[in-house]
Amino acid sequence: MTERYALIGHPVAHSKSPFIHQRFARSTSQDIEYGLIEAPLDRFEETVEAFRRSGGKGLNVTLPFKEQAFAWCKQTTPRAAEAEAVNTLTLDDAHGDNTDGIGLVRDVTLNLSVQLRGKAVLIMGAGGAARGVVPALLESGVGRVVLANRTLGRAEAVAARFPSVEARTFESLVSERFDVIVNATSAGLSGEVAALPPALLGPGVLAYDMTYGSETPFLAGARRAKAQTSDGLGMLVEQAAESFFVWRGVRPDTAPVLRELRGG
Ligand code: ATR
Repeated sequence: MTERYALIGHPVAHSKSPFIHQRFARSTSQDIEYGLIEAPLDRFEETVEAFRRSGGKGLNVTLPFKEQAFAWCKQTTPRAAEAEAVNTLTLDDAHGDNTDGIGLVRDVTLNLSVQLRGKAVLIMGAGGAARGVVPALLESGVGRVVLANRTLGRAEAVAARFPSVEARTFESLVSERFDVIVNATSAGLSGEVAALPPALLGPGVLAYDMTYGSETPFLAGARRAKAQTSDGLGMLVEQAAESFFVWRGVRPDTAPVLRELRGG
């Protein structure tokens, strides 16, 4: 019997997740359907419960509901508990997981062939998106994780929960050097990320933007500075593959799907 999954968020209309999961289902011969649910901002839990009552098996969760999804769960994996954010719900037992961090790590190490062990990583931003990837980065054996945020207090709050993570302002980074710089702010296409010292971007640095679609000012600047650049499309596909594995116990091949999404 076809089992039903969906992405829940607000908005969700332009999501690539249904395409990605349908490709995974086809390549692994899994009988699933994957749809989109735009929940009203004040009706997350009711919408989840209604999907569950109608037979829905699992949900991916996107903005702005990842913290509410964490609160809804009866049990979570350690990586979701550490992030206090859930992007993968298994509805039968109200179980929550977070596959964003492993998605980022797999994209960087497997698709972009940039090794993380011992590397210095700068994460820009201190919201849910930044928090979601910290546990997996730490687990990947990086040498150093620094969180820089416009509002220092938010970065300090995250760093307080991960003892090896340093909280900094952007301005204080002038004479630092990082191997990988991840934009996890929500600035996206709308504007420059506040005051990242330009000297941080150059050859030998991977500049990674967790957003995808058009080139952000961050990636454009990094490209001009001759840094290696990547948008977050690979992370999207890799986190989806990990969610698929959580639900179905089968790990789909991501490379053909990523190639197809990139128009290759
Ligand atoms: P998300 O769950 O996507 O991380 P969030 O919790 O609202 O969303 O966090 C947004 C992050 O982007 C924050 O780190 C925010 O910085 P502040 O904490 O100082 O607000 C950051 N952000 C948003 N717009 C930004 C901009 N133009 N420049 C720098 N940081 C920005």
